[in-house]
Amino acid sequence: MSKREHPSFSSRIGFILVTAGAAVGLGNVWSFTYVAGKNGGGGFVLIYLLTLAFIATPVFMAEMLLGRLGKASTPTSLKKLQTSAGSKLPWALPAWIGLVATILVLSFYAVISGQVMAYGWEALQGGFAGWEKDQIIALDKAFKADPSVPIFWSILFLVATAAIVSLDIRKGLERASRLMMPVLFVMLIGLVIFAVLRAGFGAAFNFLFGFNEMQLSPKILMEAVGQAFFTLSVGVGGIMLYGSYMGDDVNLPKASLWIVLMDLSVALLAGLAIFPILFSANIDPAAGPGLVFITLPLAFSGIPGGAILAFVFFLLLTFAAITSAISLLSPPTARLEEAGWSRAKSAWVMGACAFVLSLATTLSFSSWAEFHPLAFLGFEGMTPFDLIREGVNNVVLPLGGLAFALMVGWGLKREDVRVALPMENGALFSIWYGALKYLVPIAIIALFLTAIFGGGH
Ligand code: PHE
Repeated sequence: MSKREHPSFSSRIGFILVTAGAAVGLGNVWSFTYVAGKNGGGGFVLIYLLTLAFIATPVFMAEMLLGRLGKASTPTSLKKLQTSAGSKLPWALPAWIGLVATILVLSFYAVISGQVMAYGWEALQGGFAGWEKDQIIALDKAFKADPSVPIFWSILFLVATAAIVSLDIRKGLERASRLMMPVLFVMLIGLVIFAVLRAGFGAAFNFLFGFNEMQLSPKILMEAVGQAFFTLSVGVGGIMLYGSYMGDDVNLPKASLWIVLMDLSVALLAGLAIFPILFSANIDPAAGPGLVFITLPLAFSGIPGGAILAFVFFLLLTFAAITSAISLLSPPTARLEEAGWSRAKSAWVMGACAFVLSLATTLSFSSWAEFHPLAFLGFEGMTPFDLIREGVNNVVLPLGGLAFALMVGWGLKREDVRVALPMENGALFSIWYGALKYLVPIAIIALFLTAIFGGGH
């Protein structure tokens, strides 16, 4: 707490929780476990942790700072900053690309979140308690086989998201976040304790943190970096928009640290809960995007009162997904509002766009499972969903992050940046600033060079 006369503690905590709500979502539970599993565990996790600490977190702070300084929709914020920096480069361009990317992310996010909601519904009717592995696998297959079911749930998810964004009931969400986030934590810890008791815990721990057995390839590198950016929502402007709402009393570096720590702990807890179940039940870690829809129900099937716990868990995960989806729908909505559209019209139209695009993901899990549209370019075996997810996470987000790092590190004045953060500790500031100026650009460019010349896909 600072020495202010009227400490606005509650608003600072509110800001941290809402932004943590935007960051914590399917990325921590669904994508972290599925992508780590697909890419062999240890090496992926190590690169993910290093990128999170040294690349994505500094960029997260930079993106939030751009929002704090710009205080408008993302393209307008950056345009303003470009003018005040006297630069001739098109600063708004990454923000425009980011707006397209948010809708693309939302498109697959809605499908996965829809399945989370459907599983909550299943649990509410007593599902999963005492179920066998085969029954659970069959449910996942059946859910995806008839597209009308995932389509129904994706629509429900997008309608909830668009309604919240259009009604602007963020105050209510702030209150809900305060309750739901801690409960999600507690439930995850409970699941980890349950997992520790399972036979597969040792194997799971080794898989995730056994760096001695690690595998590395340009592809794994790309996925790990992409995951670090995705989990912190960095690179598309969502964090910039939240930064523009941040009160002046918020200490940006400290708030960022809290948000990153919460995000990281949810991912690690999810990993420690899910992988032991997987190894105990002999499920292939590389099972793909359906991984959590097999492991989580399996965890609850063996716990007394499992159905009700499963219901609460899927409800919390739905909530975590909605708070992230709001941060995806808000940047394009804010830009359309500036263009004179009503908030409601902007949110619903953008939500509808996400729905149309979401069909590509829904079909990738059924009739398009063998449709590999870019195989002729070397992207063999990739469905439209794979192309969208990997293209946005692994390419657009790191490049967006690179652009934000360059703006803060090279475009703005060093002293202005330091005052706006604010960061009193000179040494820490220099480390962060140096990371933006040199480490982030060099690392991201090196990553792309490795991917291009080393066969990153
Ligand atoms: N960080 C969110 C998650 O982990 C996803 C997200 C990515 C949200 C990009 C906004 C922007 O689920």
